[in-house]
Amino acid sequence: MPAAKTMKPLTLPGLIDPHVHMREPGATHKEDWDSGTAAALAGGFTTILAMPNTAPPVTSAETLQSTLKLAGSKARCDFGQYLGAGVDNTTSAPAIAPFSTGLKMYLDQTYGPLRLDDMTDWLAHLQAWPHGLPLCAHCEGKTLAAVILLADLTRHPVHLCHVSRREEILLIRKAKEQGIPVTCEVTPHHLFLSEDDIPAIGSGRSEVRPRLANRRDIQALWDNLDVIDCFASDHAPHTLAEKDSPTPPPGFPGLETSLPLLLTAAAEKRLTIDDIILRCYTNPARIFRLPEQPDTRVEVDLDARYAIRAAGAFTRCGWTPFEGMPVQGRVMRVTLRGQTAFEDGKVLAQPGSGRNVRPEMTTPPGAALPD
Ligand code: DOR
Ligand code: ZN
Ligand code: ZN
Repeated sequence: MPAAKTMKPLTLPGLIDPHVHMREPGATHKEDWDSGTAAALAGGFTTILAMPNTAPPVTSAETLQSTLKLAGSKARCDFGQYLGAGVDNTTSAPAIAPFSTGLKMYLDQTYGPLRLDDMTDWLAHLQAWPHGLPLCAHCEGKTLAAVILLADLTRHPVHLCHVSRREEILLIRKAKEQGIPVTCEVTPHHLFLSEDDIPAIGSGRSEVRPRLANRRDIQALWDNLDVIDCFASDHAPHTLAEKDSPTPPPGFPGLETSLPLLLTAAAEKRLTIDDIILRCYTNPARIFRLPEQPDTRVEVDLDARYAIRAAGAFTRCGWTPFEGMPVQGRVMRVTLRGQTAFEDGKVLAQPGSGRNVRPEMTTPPGAALPD
């Protein structure tokens, strides 16, 4: 008799992606709150946390309010919005902190104008941002080492985004052993693609920050899975025309491919289903202080084998770096707060049905936020 696992779909909790780029406001030809949250549901995510490098960037009460208003009217799954750390909002950011998912500091050049070069600005933000509210950093190599030092000096927890290198994960292990308050995430593209894949993907399309790493780096990520708190897609959609242009912007879409890739690794016994639940639900819920989603679940067919295709995806960007990759595991149905939000390849949740994970934002106390 074959194993009974073929009979019943696996049920997962509503998954959380703590690192996505929704592109609205400013670049809705790449993605908007509607298409991006449809992609999230199709990928098994019922909560997404959106980065602030939009146009304009989200760095003030006004931009946070207006972006959350857009999200509230268009999102099909639950959402949060990060506030971007700038050189001129160290003193104003703490007052609006409770309305955001957390503060995002860009410590290297990525996409968009948000970047903090001077370490005294980093220090000012770490000292001012409320303890207990999430603070994330885009950092690579030596900026990662530097921000770990500041987390230690200020005792302010820092979440390190998209760790991709051996030297980084080994340093984070050491920092955690010393009790330095850091957590970290790794993207599926840094777990499943290496620089060896660049010729097949194409050089412009392969542009991403951090860049794709070498095989030794990837092996180090797999060998140090216990140090990785979260898996995060860093869903960063740019259109194919942009990626194939002479100045390709960095970034990969990822919301619809993360879970199939992770489930494939589970089928290959490289990780367990519990490893996925811990890093796509339990840990992000704790680190980002997210509310419970009652009566919410994701049903997956662990036996479905197919190849990843951009065609038919819900993201607006129209391509994937994983095109043609064979995977095992498909999202069949997503239930959010008792409502079927995704079923048999169709998104059923309506725009505006998603909720802000910081609900106090909709009715801000006092005059903390302008209308
Ligand atoms: O590749 C990237 N793309 N890395 C980032 O940090 C930003 C992102 C984007 O917004 O496109
Ligand atoms: Zn980043
Ligand atoms: Zn990002």
